[in-house]
Amino acid sequence: MTVTPDHPLLDGRTANSSIIRAYRGDRPETTPVWFMRQAGRSLPEYRKLREGNEMLEACLTPDLASEITLQPVRRHHVDAAIFFSDIVIPAKLAGVEVEIVPGRGPVFANPIRTAADVAKLHPIDPAAFAPIREAIAQTVAQLGTTPLIGFAGAPFTLASYLVEGGPSKDQQRARTLMYSDPQTWATLLNWCADIAGEFLIAQVEAGASAVQLFDSWVGSLSEQQYVRRVAPHSKRVFSHLRGYDVPKVHFGVGSGEVLRAMHDIGADVMGVDWRIPLDEADRRLGGGVALQGNIDPALLGAPWHVLEAHVRDVLNRGRVAPAHVVNLGHGVGPDTDPDVLTKIVELVHQEG
Ligand code: CP3
Repeated sequence: MTVTPDHPLLDGRTANSSIIRAYRGDRPETTPVWFMRQAGRSLPEYRKLREGNEMLEACLTPDLASEITLQPVRRHHVDAAIFFSDIVIPAKLAGVEVEIVPGRGPVFANPIRTAADVAKLHPIDPAAFAPIREAIAQTVAQLGTTPLIGFAGAPFTLASYLVEGGPSKDQQRARTLMYSDPQTWATLLNWCADIAGEFLIAQVEAGASAVQLFDSWVGSLSEQQYVRRVAPHSKRVFSHLRGYDVPKVHFGVGSGEVLRAMHDIGADVMGVDWRIPLDEADRRLGGGVALQGNIDPALLGAPWHVLEAHVRDVLNRGRVAPAHVVNLGHGVGPDTDPDVLTKIVELVHQEG
């Protein structure tokens, strides 16, 4: 399969949207805004729909995944939808046993720690993505001119979960494997890159207008190790998208040390966390790179005048970059008051 002429990016629906223009390096009249984790637990309508449905089952039920993706667009009037799914979905579809434990995150029944464990991993059959394609087709049919962003977990973040068996503080076991058995590490990261690449292809072919690669745990790596043991595999994910002209966003948490190296894998846009101001991120990237970010999620719970001043500061600092898409420095927390997100969207649109 390939992208057909009725794809939203090709048939005139999303190519001129503010967010796609900004991702391509332009400055539209209003600065676009969306939020990582905008679809999810901060919304009462999400909690209601999820009642009695396991997280990963919901991701694989097209009607549910589509409706949850649309909820924050209707409520907040954000400039993009992010597909409701999870970074572990391709691993599950490749036959790995995983569940998402509420309040904890992805947990794997059999962690992958040895060469023999890695040898048992199967390549993914693209046909397994049928529910994803169906959910996306349904979603873009409703979205009109609002683009859908597809996403995948980067090989390091995905591999960290697989090796650790679940969430971990600083990915120690994963990093130990990286040093002690580089061959097994490379094989594991290539497998992760290929399932993530196939996940992105499925989303783009079904109608996503941009993609974001999340390397959430990249902050636990030194630049040297990132460049040597991780970056080539992240690059491999994007190489799956050769021939698909969609903007590619790359985001990491604690990425200050590796920002430039992360951009070098072939990203068009860099998502920046809240630790470095956007003008500093621009400087580290040598100028010329479109930026996304970076409202501190901790401020979502602060008094409005404090948050408002922060959002204005983010907008001002973002003006040094060629293009800026407002987002958080990481995801929306479950306790966030959704009305605060709506107010941020109004402020950003009003400020231009
Ligand atoms: O709105 C969106 O951003 C779309 C959907 C989305 C989810 N997960 C839904 C989700 C996206 C883009 C992700 C990506 C994801 N998943 C990442 C990368 C981004 C990041 O936050 O760093 C990571 C590391 C995961 C793995 C994962 N899945 C974690 C750490 C958790 C949180 C566990 C918890 O309960 O605190 C999840 C679960 C998850 N993914 C939820 C949602 C809406 C909450 C599950 C629920 O509602 O029960």
